Amino acid sequence: MNITTAEFMMSNSDVKKCPKPNKPEFAFIGRSNVGKSSLINMLTKHKNLAKISAKPGKTQLVNHFLINKEWFLVDLPGYGFAKVAKSTRQRFSKLIFNYIESRPNLINLFVLVDSRHEPQAKDTEFMEWLGINGIAFSIIFTKADKLTKRKLSENLKVYEKKMLQSWEEMPPYIVSSSSSEQGKEEILAYIDENMKMAQE
Ligand code: GTP
Ligand code: MG
Repeated sequence: MNITTAEFMMSNSDVKKCPKPNKPEFAFIGRSNVGKSSLINMLTKHKNLAKISAKPGKTQLVNHFLINKEWFLVDLPGYGFAKVAKSTRQRFSKLIFNYIESRPNLINLFVLVDSRHEPQAKDTEFMEWLGINGIAFSIIFTKADKLTKRKLSENLKVYEKKMLQSWEEMPPYIVSSSSSEQGKEEILAYIDENMKMAQE
């Protein structure tokens, strides 16, 4: 797939006010600072579509973008950022869970995980919740340029081992880097394929 147009639609803290679920959508989620905004900008070839910030916790709303006038790309708030007040954090999670449960048009949720880190309970527990609730998801390992190939493959093995403690098989995953554009074609092809399958 080639992204020819990417338009910002709206930011929302209220699930009910989000765009009507009348187009297929793909959402991106992950811990704060995982590289979500950078990835969205890389995929859509925009420098500034999703705000990039070195300061974690900046994206605290559900953001909808209309891609190729055909599907919604959704930037969900980062979860598990410790420096946000607890009440705010709970509001985020409620928003995230409500949102995910309320979108019949959600085809796939990309869960972003920093490829440099060991499996984090926040992420693996979140994915378990997705599994229990029948939400289709895949993992994107971000910032692959920040480690050697060898270290990357070691980390992937560790991650897979951890996942296999609760999953029968490793969920689909893609390795990416917003700086080198690694993974871009693979992610776009994945979206394309899943959109076609959903339409059949
Ligand atoms: P929040 O919106 O705050 O939750 O963060 P986010 O997940 O949107 O992360 P963002 O894209 O803002 O990136 C966080 C920091 O990581 C920024 O300083 C980025 O420049 C950096 N970064 C993101 N992706 C990559 C990558 O693939 N490679 C490298 N080297 N740095 C990256
Ligand atoms: Mg962001």
